[in-house]
Amino acid sequence: MPIQPKPAIRRVHACAGAMIVLGATLSPITTASAQDQAKIEAGENVFNTNCAICHGDQLVSTGQTFDLRRLKDSDRARFDNSVRNGKNQMPPWKGKLTDEEIDQVWHYIRANAYQK
Ligand code: HEC
Repeated sequence: MPIQPKPAIRRVHACAGAMIVLGATLSPITTASAQDQAKIEAGENVFNTNCAICHGDQLVSTGQTFDLRRLKDSDRARFDNSVRNGKNQMPPWKGKLTDEEIDQVWHYIRANAYQK
C-alpha cells in the first residue's frame, strides 16, 4: 500500500470540521458568552478555595450563613462592599483576593442564583 498515511490525515480534518460544526450548534443555547464562562469557572475555583467552607459546597448553604444564591443582579454594590470589608462573622477579603477574583466569584454566584 503506497499511500498509507493519507487516511489518518483525512480523519484529523474530518474531526476538526465536526468540532467547528458542534461549536456553532451549541452556541445559541448558551446564555453566557465565552468570556463570562471563563469568569464563572475561575470564580468557582475562588469560591471553593475561600468561601465554600462557610457558604457551602456549590453554594448550597447549610443555613448557618447567608445563602449567596439569593443575591440579585442589583446586589453587586452590596456584594463588593461586604466581601471587601467583611460583615460580622465574615472576615474582610480586601488584600486577600484581587478585584478580578472578587469579580469572578460574583459571576459564579450569579450563574447559580435563584433569580437570574
Ligand atoms: C468564616 C466563614 C466565612 C467565609 C470563609 C466567607 N463568608 Fe461570607 N459570610 C459569612 C457569614 C457568617 C455571613 C453572614 C454575615 C451577617 O449578615 O451577619 C456572610 C455573608 C456574606 C455575604 C452577604 C453579606 C450581606 O451583604 O449581607 C456575602 C456576599 C458573602 N458572605 C460572600 C462571601 C464570599 C464571596 C466569600 C469568599 C471569598 C465568603 N463570603 C467567605 C461567613 C463567611
